[in-house]
Amino acid sequence: MSFSITDLMRPNIASLIPYSSARNEFTGRAEVFLDANENWRDFVGDKGRNRYPDPMQRALKQKIEQVLGLPMDKLVVGNGSDEIIDLLFRIFCVPGRDKVLVMSPTYGAYQVFADINNVGVSDCPLKDDFTVDLHRLEAICHLINMGNPSTGMHKMLFLCSPNNPSGNSIPLEPIRHIATCFKGITVVDEAYFDFSGKPSAVTLMEECPRLVVMRTLSKSWGLANARVGLAVAPPEMVAAMNKVKYPYNMSGIAQELAIEALGQADEVARGVREIITERTLVATRLRNYRFVLEVYPSDANFLLVRVEDPNGVYDYLKGRGIIIRNRTTVRGCFGCVRITIGSKTENQKLLQALDEWEVMSC
Ligand SMILES: Cc1ncc(COP(=O)(O)O)c(C=O)c1O
Repeated sequence: MSFSITDLMRPNIASLIPYSSARNEFTGRAEVFLDANENWRDFVGDKGRNRYPDPMQRALKQKIEQVLGLPMDKLVVGNGSDEIIDLLFRIFCVPGRDKVLVMSPTYGAYQVFADINNVGVSDCPLKDDFTVDLHRLEAICHLINMGNPSTGMHKMLFLCSPNNPSGNSIPLEPIRHIATCFKGITVVDEAYFDFSGKPSAVTLMEECPRLVVMRTLSKSWGLANARVGLAVAPPEMVAAMNKVKYPYNMSGIAQELAIEALGQADEVARGVREIITERTLVATRLRNYRFVLEVYPSDANFLLVRVEDPNGVYDYLKGRGIIIRNRTTVRGCFGCVRITIGSKTENQKLLQALDEWEVMSC
């Protein structure tokens, strides 16, 4: 049995009549705006900060289409991709009844948004080398496909590629296979895509009708502070996200900054290449330490590293003013720390400190 995207939605969302904002109702040209109860004065300059921003972020979407080649009519932009994840839970998962499927270890926010929405989480753990356990996942998908949208079912499957915290990508073929086999919504989180050099799951969207792909400007585009995430989604999902999101979910300032950043594509591509080169250099240096047991291959801007004494390394670096992420308590990551690739200088400081830790810990 196959379900349409609308079949999978919370029934109250499928039938929701959304709030219609003043800026949504009027889109033409005018000189006098007396429709949104704004202040006619702008006390902080002349950039129109007294006016509500475009709720549909049209100029930003145009720029995204032009620079990233993602079709404007399939785009939703959010206050970070975290907002997109939250929207998906609120659109598809009935609290206390539905579930989602994740593959641990992965981005922790999927679990947190599930908890906030009182949605259960099933896990199909990645293998020891962090690749997808395809046979197990396929078997789980066949089982959970037996669910029924009206009585509760696994509504979403999260695939993070490249995965946080392991750093590896999931090849397109297993994504295509699973997205076809799973009758719910397959969400591919491509937050670190630009560091991977691999093809995007966006190319699968035609043959996989229930697939949604997320990206963010927080990583390669250097705009974590502005909070800009996006989803490429099928039309029914775009319509639902536009209904459920806050009317003005992204500030005008964030929209302007995103357009500005997207105008720096060459500079950003150079930055990405620099980080990839540094990633290789740092990984090579790390592999030479005796206290390092494994440096996992990474398609992202960080490295997952298994060490002899993760708490010791973490505390030592903290004492030196260098903060990394201790992941040793995360399922599947025993003994691991996650290290973001910084500037050349920052990476040198890290390695200098670790040289000393190597001497001290022997
Ligand atoms: C895999 C993954 N997805 C999404 C996000 C959230 O990104 P944003 O800053 O766009 O909310 C992160 C942030 O670290 C992440 O690692």
